[in-house]
Amino acid sequence: MILLAVVTISMVVFVIRYNRERHPRPERVKESILLEVVWTVVPTILVIFMFYFGWVDFEYIRNPPKDALTINVTARQWSWLFTYDNGRREGVLNVPVGRPVKLLMTSVDVLHCLFIPAYRIKEDCIPGMTTHLWFTANEPGVYDIFCTEYCGVGHSHMRSQVIALKPEEFRRWYSAEPGRSVAELGMSVLQAKGCLGCHSLDGSSKVGPTFKGLLGRREIVVQAGKEKEIVVDEGFIRQHILDPRSATVKGFPPVMPQTPMTDEELTTIVNYLVAVK
Ligand code: CUA
Repeated sequence: MILLAVVTISMVVFVIRYNRERHPRPERVKESILLEVVWTVVPTILVIFMFYFGWVDFEYIRNPPKDALTINVTARQWSWLFTYDNGRREGVLNVPVGRPVKLLMTSVDVLHCLFIPAYRIKEDCIPGMTTHLWFTANEPGVYDIFCTEYCGVGHSHMRSQVIALKPEEFRRWYSAEPGRSVAELGMSVLQAKGCLGCHSLDGSSKVGPTFKGLLGRREIVVQAGKEKEIVVDEGFIRQHILDPRSATVKGFPPVMPQTPMTDEELTTIVNYLVAVK
């Protein structure tokens, strides 16, 4: 506002005062060394000040403390996977309150961007490159994680949560052995492979059909351009995971990625789907 006022008022004054009728002959103006030095040095000092404060904060934001808890983040179409040093893999980000957390992030397919609005931090996840972020959770609670880089049809579903736990609760969670029951084992594979980014467990449609009641369900699939009705069985699930393009369930886009899986992992998923219905 101040700059606008100064520029506009002087422009109007100059136009009136120096127009052709009042000033038919232009005059030669002699330079002023003092003026030039002042308008060079003063802005330079101002800019150096601004740079200094910016640099101090930039250093702080970019350099995680040495004692930070490191968690690896893998982004994929369309889910987040958080891997801990002890091998624990989760679809949500559990962190302890009061301890700095460093995220080492990458993507297995396209550009994604991890955004935690509550902590005011955001950074791209880039295939073939590791980027990082750090934060300290100050209060226990659940906070949103969003993907803020348009990454395809499931982008808006690419959400997760930070769960900030009290240090002792985090310690208990961290040292608990995950994945003994069929359901826990199944969940850990589904999360690790990113299945839950597109397939819900509660019956709602996301990018792909829900897992709820999948086995034994009648579906119309498009196979080699032709529609046919099938009953989903174990064979179809195995075949579809290994070669997603072989058939597409009608009404859903043909975007399921090829996900390498061992036979054991396939069996774990099938067992899970049988168990949860
Ligand atoms: Cu991932 Cu948008």
